[in-house]
Formats: sequence, structure tokens, C-alpha cells
Amino acid sequence: MSSKARALCMIPGPVEMAEGVLAANSTPATAHTDPAFAEAFGQVLEGLRTVVGTRDGQPFVIAGSGTLGWDQAAANLIEEGDAVLVLSNGYFGEGLADCMETYGARVTRLRAAPGQRATAAEVAQALAAQAYKAVTVSQVDTSTGVLADVQGVCEAVRAHSPQTLVIVDGVCATAAERLYFDAWGVDVVITASQKALGAPPGVSVVVASQRALDVVAARKTRVPAYYASWARWLPVMRSYEARAPKYFATPCVQAIFALNESLRGILADGIELVFAAHERTAARVRAAVAAWGLKTVAAEPALCSNAMTAVWLPESIAAADLLPRLRARGIVAAGGILAGHAHRYFRLGHMGISATRPNGNVDAMLAAAAAALEECGHQIPSSSTSSSSSSGRASPPRL
Ligand SMILES: Cc1ncc(COP(=O)(O)O)c(C=O)c1O
Repeated sequence: MSSKARALCMIPGPVEMAEGVLAANSTPATAHTDPAFAEAFGQVLEGLRTVVGTRDGQPFVIAGSGTLGWDQAAANLIEEGDAVLVLSNGYFGEGLADCMETYGARVTRLRAAPGQRATAAEVAQALAAQAYKAVTVSQVDTSTGVLADVQGVCEAVRAHSPQTLVIVDGVCATAAERLYFDAWGVDVVITASQKALGAPPGVSVVVASQRALDVVAARKTRVPAYYASWARWLPVMRSYEARAPKYFATPCVQAIFALNESLRGILADGIELVFAAHERTAARVRAAVAAWGLKTVAAEPALCSNAMTAVWLPESIAAADLLPRLRARGIVAAGGILAGHAHRYFRLGHMGISATRPNGNVDAMLAAAAAALEECGHQIPSSSTSSSSSSGRASPPRL
């Protein structure tokens, strides 16, 4: 397919990629022992520390998807019978709970109604009632576009149960949503290459605190995983960071070149400016949704993610009616995935270069969505169906 005919991928990941990232992903065969690869791998490890805001957190960069990060956290940190509090704001919170149980955790789920989030006060209350080895929180639950209060959760943990580990699923958040790993006291952040990190799918990224690594070292039982065992990967990560190749399992060479290229772009902009660009773009999307006369699934602006937006459809329109009309206009968007509500809403991604570069992707997405909604019979109340409209019933930007 020629790039002109190609539809824009505006789902909540994978995301549109910069030309340099695409080029890095299609470089010729390169040995994982090649000095150029060791240099790129080292830069990726260092760059990820900057993105999540840590000085001595340990990145693990392993071939796999975001879900492998769940397995890594659970396999390495959880032993049979450990109590884990899972904050679940949707589909991915439920999945993470399932993963924890797979490795023997006794999980308590703190569930929020669709569009809402578990609060720091609820976390404090839960911690007062029972001791937990870990608390998990999905920073953005991609099923709802709800942004969790990670900082508040960290504060509640530090105040009420400082030994409890804080595990953050940042798959749909890292490099789009603010997270300050050291300052907030995060122990594990789990992410992946294909969302706001702006690279192709294929790289599982985890950053673990020294405290989390100490918990692994103090285990009474063996880590019930081979590929996902941090003890096997730690020497590899340390070695590549020193620009010296080391083998445990073959790294995804081209995907790491591509991730490095994308990280270079993010770091050249500066991570704070990248966060701010995501905030501005998300505010523009929310303004358009309000101008369409529709509501975000996230119940209020303060709960809305800056990486993606989930939008309730009018009762007369199902996601399956709308999405092909968007596709016909050159935009691939996503349907709902929240159990019991999937057909009632659709999801728009606005991460990575679509948020940070003046490429018109978000304008094209919003214009196509407005036109597709009208074609489905929805009457847009605002006079403007234009993507960049910030008039009408827009929510104030949360900048
Ligand atoms: C919040 C969240 N967690 C975990 C995952 C799983 O990641 P992957 O599909 O890369 O395995 C996703 C995927 O979209 C996600 O959005």
C-alpha cells in the first residue's frame, strides 16, 4: 500500500511513527554484539530513565509487548499468597489483576464505575484495613481513557503502608502523562514501545526501583518464570548500558534501534514539553467532543487522559456503524472494549508525534469523526464541525 493511500492509525496504540523511526526499524541485519547496537541499546536504557524521572531505577528492555511487563512484575515480585491491591478502572485493570492471580497473588480489586477512578482516599482506607505487598494502578486504562491519580496513590501508600510496592501500568501513559518515578516513590513502571514512546510494537519496557530489586533478592521461593526473570536480564541490561554486549536471549535489534530513534526525538524536545504538547492536544480533542454534543467516557476533565479519549456515542449509533465511516475517510479509530458497553463508545488515540508534531493528524482525525457522526445521523449542535474548533461547549483546557 502506498503511504498516500494508507489510513492514519489513530487508535490508542500502535501510533503513527516518525520517518526516522520507520527507517531505523528497517535497517539491515545487525548482530546483537555489534558496537553500534550496544551504543543504541545503552542510549535507550539511559533515555528511559529520563522519560520516567529516575536516577537509579533499573530499566528492563526485552522483546515482547506490554503484557510481558505484567508478567515480569508479577513473576518477580509476587510469591504464593501475597496480598495485592489492584485499582481497576476498566479492562486493563482487570487483566492486571488476572495476571497477578496467575502468579499466586491474593488480589483485592478496588473497582471504579465506568468513567470514574479509584481514589487515593479509598487506597488509604484499604491499606488501613489490611497489609498489602503491592498496589497496582493503570495510569491510563485504555478501555475508558480514565487517568488514574498515581501521585495520590503513591502518597497514600507512603503515608499508610510504606513497605508496600507501587506498580504502575504505564502502557498507555508513559511519555504522554506526567510520572516522576523517584519523586513520587514509584517502584515499578510497565510500558511498551508502541504507544507514546512512538516506536513499533515489540519492545516490553519496565523500570524497577532498587527497592523492588531488593524484594526480588529476598524471595523465599524461586521466580516462577524463565524468560521474564529479572535475575537473568539484570546483567544483560547493566552490560549494554556499559556499551558491552551480553547475551541471555536475542534482543529485538531493529525494534530497539527504532525505539532509540523515537526516544532521541522525545529527549530533544524535552520530556516536560512533550507532556505539555500531549495536554494541549488532549484539550483540543475534548473541545471537539464537546462541540459535537457528546461526552467523554471519563466523567470529568480532571479524569481525562492526555494520551487518548473515549467518547460515548448517541444511543442511535453503535461503534460498528461509525468506525467504517471513519476508515472510509482515512482514519483508523478503535471501538469500545469495556465489558457490557463496548458498542456504546469509540476511542481516539492522540499520542506520540500526532500530539507533538504539526502534522495535521489530529485535525484530520477530528474532521473525519465529525463527518462520520453526521453521516450516521447525529446532528452536531455547534455551527462548526471543524477539528480545530474550540468554540461551543468545550471544556476548559486542563493545562
Ligand atoms: C493500559 C494497558 N496495559 C496493558 C496493555 C497490554 O499491552 P500489549 O497489548 O502491548 O501487550 C495495554 C494494551 O493496549 C494497555 O493499554
